[in-house]
Amino acid sequence: MRVAHCILILLSVTRQLSSAKYSSHLNEEVSNSGQSQTTRTLFQDEEKKGFLSIPQDDPDPASRARRLSYRAPFWEFVPYASIDPGLANLTMAAPGGTLGDASLASQSAAIGGQLLVSRAVGMNALEGPINATCLAISASGECLNTLDSYLPLYDSLAPQYQPAAYRFYDSDYAFARERITSSPAFITRVNSVGDIPFTQADVTGYDTITGGVSLSSLVAQGRLFTVDYYPLYQAGVLEASPDAFLEAPTAFFFVNGPIPKRRKWGKPRKNDPALMPLAIKYNVQQTYVVSPQDPHPDWFLAKAVFNCLDRDVNAIYHFVLHTVIANVAIAAQKTLASEHPLYPPIQHAANLNFGIISSGVLLLLAPFGVFDTYLSLSGASIQSLLFPYLMERFDWQSTNIKDNLQARGVMDIPGFLYRDDGETISDALRTYTRKYLAGSYRKRGSVQGDPELQNFLGALTNSSDTIAFLNGFPTGAQVRNLKDVSELLAQILWISGVEHHALNSFRILNFDLVYPSHPGKILSPLPASTGTLTDDQVQQNFISGSGLSGSSLSTAQAASTANFVPDFKTMDIGNPLAFFLGTQATAFAFYPLLQKPNRLTNIYLSDTEDKPTAKAALALRQRLRVISKRIVEREAATTGTFKYLLLDPTNLPFYLYI
Ligand SMILES: [Fe+2]
Repeated sequence: MRVAHCILILLSVTRQLSSAKYSSHLNEEVSNSGQSQTTRTLFQDEEKKGFLSIPQDDPDPASRARRLSYRAPFWEFVPYASIDPGLANLTMAAPGGTLGDASLASQSAAIGGQLLVSRAVGMNALEGPINATCLAISASGECLNTLDSYLPLYDSLAPQYQPAAYRFYDSDYAFARERITSSPAFITRVNSVGDIPFTQADVTGYDTITGGVSLSSLVAQGRLFTVDYYPLYQAGVLEASPDAFLEAPTAFFFVNGPIPKRRKWGKPRKNDPALMPLAIKYNVQQTYVVSPQDPHPDWFLAKAVFNCLDRDVNAIYHFVLHTVIANVAIAAQKTLASEHPLYPPIQHAANLNFGIISSGVLLLLAPFGVFDTYLSLSGASIQSLLFPYLMERFDWQSTNIKDNLQARGVMDIPGFLYRDDGETISDALRTYTRKYLAGSYRKRGSVQGDPELQNFLGALTNSSDTIAFLNGFPTGAQVRNLKDVSELLAQILWISGVEHHALNSFRILNFDLVYPSHPGKILSPLPASTGTLTDDQVQQNFISGSGLSGSSLSTAQAASTANFVPDFKTMDIGNPLAFFLGTQATAFAFYPLLQKPNRLTNIYLSDTEDKPTAKAALALRQRLRVISKRIVEREAATTGTFKYLLLDPTNLPFYLYI
């Protein structure tokens, strides 16, 4: 009876509302019936153009200028030191001004809340099962004494939270595969034998590893590659976190057969050559070379030592992308009206980015924050040394995937899935931005005749404004036509929605902190030579810390004496299981809790009906779905190593999450 009564009331309210709506429509029609022909044409033109317009085509330039004047003067480029004194060395800009400050505050609160959610979900998803499994293995909680200890712990997680790489921790193929999938930023071709800091005789089992192909032949055939962290040590920008025994190794990889002609989307064939590790050379604590033919404990340790620094440097490199997009977003606020076709996509790309930088990055780098506690580089040294160092060397042109891979000489590495997926998505974005902008920039000269665009470019390319300036960003003279402006916008979307995700986010949980091959930090000094360690010692003394009982220094003491190679023998990380759980919770903080509308496949950039804009977005979505299908099919057929799904478009956000 009560339900029926409610339905009756609801029906009655609905009827009243529809009748009000109907009468208001009637009123509109009555008043519109007296419209002049000119007004009707204006409406038709508006419908054709939709919400977006470049300033010279705006039917009401005075209103546009007035609205921009309500916003633009209240945004400023300010130094990061104004947010945190520890960031005084950073050479890019934080948001300032009344509106910039307000945006920073609200975004920081949003990201802070999101991190709390990730933390709560992570506790549930990771810590509960791992704790329970550990206690089932050992009543006293000692479940981390062997290199394979982590398998049952990761096995106990729900499948969606199991890291992609955890079963392959001992695989050399997987170690090399990371350089061309999840950690692709720094591998480069070796172009001269003179650049190799060792001889064949220094590499144990050289002929067994390479099939007897000499180093000079590998170089001549373009089959030798390196990731070299020694130059960063030489530049003085690496400092160990408390309790960490950091190294700055140089790793070498080779393709184990003639490089085949590149096949786009070709299924891998059985006898395809593959990238494999050749050797890792230590440079700081020790100077010897370790190879896959050295005793297993030494080779395993060398890979873990390499991964520790590789992860941290990649993380800081990716932070630079956040700060670059912050500069772009501040410039947009200062120069572009909301109706400008570049304004909505830049807002999308920079979604929450100020908050991610201020809450996320600062939280990670703070004294006794995540880097100090769980990772290899100290937060303070990152703030003052490595972050500014990488920022100063940033070049906008290097963010173009094709130019970047070409410059590093790595275009032809077989199985380079970051290249395969990234280039296809990059092409799709270029097609999309061209379609999206074609209606706005349809007239000859309209790009260089767009004063807002010119001001936007000018704000980022004026070298006298050192913190706003982005090295290599195209100038007004370089952005001449629809193609140029489309490529610029595609590059902003690429960095924010694709490249960022290739380097961060999903990657951290799936690869970067997956024990035992990617430990947060190395906990003992490296041995003076190979052949002195057992696997269990590597695990207990260097990776889990379970063999380091009775250590003498507290974290606070260690922090005060932290340098590159601490002057003590063993460190105290507290309870090894708690430490391990802390690293995993750190990884989970980046877990993408993305909802559907935040995805690149759902990008749509107009606040009103705009057919060309919607059509361009739909075409992008369809193309990305085709790419996704190919990637998913390829990885479904991948067995015996980890699956690479970081650039599956259905995983991609449209902004730098997180
Ligand atoms: Fe990020």
